[in-house]
Amino acid sequence: MQVSKKIYFVFFLMVIFLSSNSYAQNKAEKEIFIDELMSKMTLQEKIGQLNLPGSGDIKTGEANNSDIAGKIRLGLVGGLLNVKSVSKIKEIQKIAVEESRLKIPLIFGMDVIHGYRTTFPIPLGLASSWDMNLIEKMARIAAQEASADGICWTFSPMVDIARDPRWGRIAEGAGEDAYLGSRIAEAYVKGYQGDDLKKNNTIMSCVKHFALYGAAEAGRDYNTTDMSLVRMYNEYFPPYKAAIDAGAGSIMTSFNDVNGIPASGNRWLMTEVLRNQWKFKGFVVTDYTAIQEMITHGMGDLQAVSAMALHAGTDMDMVGESYLSTLEKSLSEQKVTLEEIDLACRRILEAKYDLGLFEDPFKYCDENRAVTEIATIENMNVARDIAAQTFVLLKNKNQILPLAKKGKIALIGPLANSRFDMAGMWSVAAEHKESVTVLEGFKNVLGNKAEILYAKGANVVDDKDYDARITWGTSGIDSTKTSAQLRKEALKIAKKSDVIVAVLGEGAEMSGECSSRSNIDLPENQKILLAELLKLGKPVVLVLYTGRPLTITWENENVPAILNVWFGGTQGGNAVADVVFGDVNPSGKLPVTFPQNVGQIPLYYNCKNTGRPLSNEWFEKYKSNYLDITNEPLYPFGFGLSYTNFKYSNLTLSNTKMNENETIKISVQVENTGNFDGKEVVQLYLRDLVGSISRPVMELKNFQKIDIKKGEKKTITFDIDIEDLKFYNNDLQFVAEPGTFEVFVGTNSKETLKAEFELIK
Ligand code: NOJ
Repeated sequence: MQVSKKIYFVFFLMVIFLSSNSYAQNKAEKEIFIDELMSKMTLQEKIGQLNLPGSGDIKTGEANNSDIAGKIRLGLVGGLLNVKSVSKIKEIQKIAVEESRLKIPLIFGMDVIHGYRTTFPIPLGLASSWDMNLIEKMARIAAQEASADGICWTFSPMVDIARDPRWGRIAEGAGEDAYLGSRIAEAYVKGYQGDDLKKNNTIMSCVKHFALYGAAEAGRDYNTTDMSLVRMYNEYFPPYKAAIDAGAGSIMTSFNDVNGIPASGNRWLMTEVLRNQWKFKGFVVTDYTAIQEMITHGMGDLQAVSAMALHAGTDMDMVGESYLSTLEKSLSEQKVTLEEIDLACRRILEAKYDLGLFEDPFKYCDENRAVTEIATIENMNVARDIAAQTFVLLKNKNQILPLAKKGKIALIGPLANSRFDMAGMWSVAAEHKESVTVLEGFKNVLGNKAEILYAKGANVVDDKDYDARITWGTSGIDSTKTSAQLRKEALKIAKKSDVIVAVLGEGAEMSGECSSRSNIDLPENQKILLAELLKLGKPVVLVLYTGRPLTITWENENVPAILNVWFGGTQGGNAVADVVFGDVNPSGKLPVTFPQNVGQIPLYYNCKNTGRPLSNEWFEKYKSNYLDITNEPLYPFGFGLSYTNFKYSNLTLSNTKMNENETIKISVQVENTGNFDGKEVVQLYLRDLVGSISRPVMELKNFQKIDIKKGEKKTITFDIDIEDLKFYNNDLQFVAEPGTFEVFVGTNSKETLKAEFELIK
């Protein structure tokens, strides 16, 4: 070893020694602190820490007299959720640290799902960016803003794998793929928690909903899930585990039952998997009233289900107050143990310690930060850039897009000028008045270069009852005009225009919690409008707002250009204009399959082969297919066009054989053959041809998002090692089995180059 290397090595050992020493010291300090605190706590106070009651709508200046205040004074509250603003949080925290016996600070959590007041695209949109830096950046800004407003804990990320677009909460996750979902889960956690939870601008992440919430049968929210263990471990568990490995401080139980046992009372999930197998050290909180809902699941009365949840390893009870009202009795009747209560209490106190709340309970209550750090111009600019990266160009016949900034542009549709719908579902802290509509975005980007003619053209839906369900009661229907009148107005301006931009789709609240749909077409009245616009024979661009894959087979056949924009957040309207007029070249790729119709659901790219796969595209007798439709998706996983074209060639492997200690280098050439600079997501999939259990036809194993200028050619390289080949076998061992593997590299899961290699013993 050279001298300099030696010095470096000694230095490295010293750093490790010192840092492990200070880690041990911090850990010991924490333990001593919590031991001491717990030695003073009464049983009720310990149970109080497990209690996360609903805060109701406490008004600033009124916290003192609220019902909650009395409980806080008695030490019967561990934290609160969805309380908004420094002034309220400060007032409530004061009660805890000045008027309760042991002065234990409260933890304040909120659903900061896709940004705080600066709202970013919905999570399914963010996932479409396939850009981990961008997702981490958005989470960092969300944490910065939320912490400036008193929040120290977010109920995010939602990492539930979802393969059923009928389920409204597909909007809140990263789609159907375990690998992509895992990378995204890590990015969120890193962004929220930063490198040090003790800082005042980082917040604790709560990964949710453990487990399998996205597999709700028939896509109906809260419904049963039932699946094999190998599927759980290989296809649904990885993102939860990735979030935990990235250091998420807490995890939320799901509402559903998992193979017969509701998640909140499922000891196998909360203790065996989470603690014993994954070594999770944080705390478990239930979802909203999930413990008491176990009564309706058929698990017993409130006392029984509360004991079951505690025994399972569920530490904190959100809203139901089930622990508060039953655990003392259960302890006296020996239905739970003091050790179980102590353990749950300790984990919650540890989280408060890790956040630095014992050192300064008001560390997130700086009124000045609330004024200067929230919804800043810089954050809004980042939000605009990010939103544009999440749009997916689904079709662009004859290169209609980008549009020229000239002439007469008809902007038509219920989502074209709807401020309420821009932020998307779950935007608790958004100020809708700050959202930029598409109409405003067009005006901002076009200035006086082109004339914009606007008409609403249709309501989101015409049915009043349906409308009430998707607008929280504030009607989105234009009651001054009939549907026919709305359409007539739109057609009138469309006739005068050179090009038509139809901004159609779902309203913001048609996806998200409790927003399952059995029909995922564009609402009928909007389809009628679109059909009439198309009849005019002018170029039509469909800008599609949606929180889920929609069945837009007819639209795909008939509309020349479709840009899927999900819900882009506060700056979404500007970002739509940036992309439509070519200031930004779209680069989003679908993180979820779009089916042709609902009958194909669940439809996902990494399916099994069956014993009777089709050899043709269309029907074959006694093969796995339908009589009335092909097996193909409308748009496959990973799909998304650009204003330019990318040519893939020269897929090369450094070796065609590898053993378990070797790495294979896979390289491919990507050339930008079009007329725009662009970004491309180069995707790498593998197929394990023979296994001890049947293996998917392909699985995403890596990807790179690259910038590539027009005319430029780049060589992209991936490394494959033994870890990439592993899966959980029938004994739930994580193994790689020798044999042949196919490699696919391409622009989406259907258009790939192919090669193969062999894993040898
Ligand atoms: C219920 C939702 O399922 C969960 O995701 C959310 O965090 C809680 N409510 C708290 O609002």
